Amino acid sequence: MEFVVAVDGPAGSGKGTVTKIVGKREKLVYIDTGAMYRCVTLDMLRKNIGLEDIEKIKEVLENINIEFKEENGQNTVYLNGENVTKEIRENEVNQMVSQVSHLVEVRKNITNLSRKVAEGKQVIMEGRDIGTNVFPNADIKIYLDATSEERAKRRYNQNKEKGINIPYEEILENIKFRDNNDKTSPVAPLKQAEDAIYIDSSNMTIEEVANKIIEIIKEKKNTL
Ligand code: DC
Repeated sequence: MEFVVAVDGPAGSGKGTVTKIVGKREKLVYIDTGAMYRCVTLDMLRKNIGLEDIEKIKEVLENINIEFKEENGQNTVYLNGENVTKEIRENEVNQMVSQVSHLVEVRKNITNLSRKVAEGKQVIMEGRDIGTNVFPNADIKIYLDATSEERAKRRYNQNKEKGINIPYEEILENIKFRDNNDKTSPVAPLKQAEDAIYIDSSNMTIEEVANKIIEIIKEKKNTL
């Protein structure tokens, strides 16, 4: 039986970390749709393809192969057979990914891919438009939020752990820029679905947020 938990929210709201934990504990397949947009962006950057070059972007989309694998307990992302888990988090990608995600062709392609990956499975999927657009009938919809300063602090620490060195101010600026871009997107903008449960994680630990979502899942499964 298909079971979908949709987790949406802005950059750095804790979606990634929390969804991974909940996925493992509740045995749900974890799907990171942001990573898919990041793969398209990385592929474009490497091939020197600009945002206006729709024909070349279509070619990228036709040939792209994105895979999620679990290796030694870590979630890894493969782009055309290459492990790009780290590369897709680099600054060049951060700066361009929001604009790439606004391109109608890209959105259509990644939305279809996201639906296909989840087909017939029990999944927890994180993104911006999962509850509003990709799975409007998701069993559970969560909208995870936090202040922009708190989110920048989290992303800064996360990067440091991964050996990526980007100054806090630069991250904050990028987060605000992307928030604005994501919320004003002409296609599937970031917004809370009417039937989503809102969680403000600014003053909550990862553990607390994860436990709250697990509680919601258990309650829902009891009614099925
Ligand atoms: O979650 P993230 O920061 O890795 O997402 C990268 C970008 O992709 C973000 O700027 C918004 C976009 N995105 C989107 O438009 N729709 C999604 N479902 C997921 C991500």
